[in-house]
Amino acid sequence: MKIPVATIRTERLVLRPFRLEDAMRVQELAGDAAVAEMTDAIPHPYEDGMAEEWIAGLPAGREAGTGLALAICLKSDGPVIGAVSLGSIRAEHRCAVLGYWIGRPYWNKGYCTEATRALVEYGFRSLGLNRVQAYHFEPNPASGRVLAKIGMRREGVLRQHLLVRGRFQDLAAYAVLASEFADARPADG
Ligand SMILES: CC(C)(COP(=O)(O)OP(=O)(O)OC[C@H]1O[C@@H](n2cnc3c(N)ncnc32)[C@H](O)[C@@H]1OP(=O)(O)O)[C@@H](O)C(=O)NCCC(=O)NCCS
Repeated sequence: MKIPVATIRTERLVLRPFRLEDAMRVQELAGDAAVAEMTDAIPHPYEDGMAEEWIAGLPAGREAGTGLALAICLKSDGPVIGAVSLGSIRAEHRCAVLGYWIGRPYWNKGYCTEATRALVEYGFRSLGLNRVQAYHFEPNPASGRVLAKIGMRREGVLRQHLLVRGRFQDLAAYAVLASEFADARPADG
C-alpha cells in the first residue's frame, strides 16, 4: 500500500520529505566519518552525486509502501540536521525498521529522540504498524540510549551479523509494540 507524503511537526523540529536541494547538506553531514562509521547504510567516502541519487530514489519506496524517509529540520531556521526513516515495511506483518542519523554539530541535544519518537508514533497511529524494530552496532551506546528513551526494549544481539568496511559488527536488536508505545511516558528524558 502506498505511503502518503507526510510532514510531522514536533516541539523543535519539522520532519518533511527530502528535496533535491538538500543534497549538498546531506553530503556534508552524512559525509562525516563519525556518522558513517556507525551505519552500514551510509557510504564513506560520500562522493558527489550520492546524495542526489539517494534522495531521488526515496519516492519509489513510498510508492511501493516499503519505506518512508524524512529530513529532520530545525523548526527555528529550517536547516536539515539529519534523517529518520521507517524502512523494510512489511504491510502483511505490520512491522518496520527504524533508522536515523544526526549531523555531528547537533548531537546530544535530544533531537534524535524527538524525531524518532514522532516518527514511531506516526507509524503506529497513521500507518497502522504493530511493531517497530531498530538495530545499532554494539559499540554505539548513544544510539541504544535513544532507543531506550523512546520506549524500545532490547531483545538481544545478532552476533557478527554484518561485515562493514572489513569488520564484523554485532547488532543490538530493539523493538517496541504499538500497545507498549501508547503506555510509554512521552518525555522520559
Ligand atoms: C546516535 C545518534 C543518532 C544520536 O543522536 P542525538 O540527537 O545526539 O541523540 P539524543 O541527543 O536524542 O540522545 C543521545 C543520548 O545518548 C547519550 N550518549 C551520547 N554519547 C554517549 C556515549 N558515548 N555513551 C552513552 N550514552 C551516550 C546522550 O547523553 C543522550 O542520552 P541522555 O539524553 O540520557 O543524556 C547520533 O549520535 C548519530 O547520528 N550518530 C551517528 C550515526 C548513527 O549512529 N546512527 C544510528 C545508527 S543505529
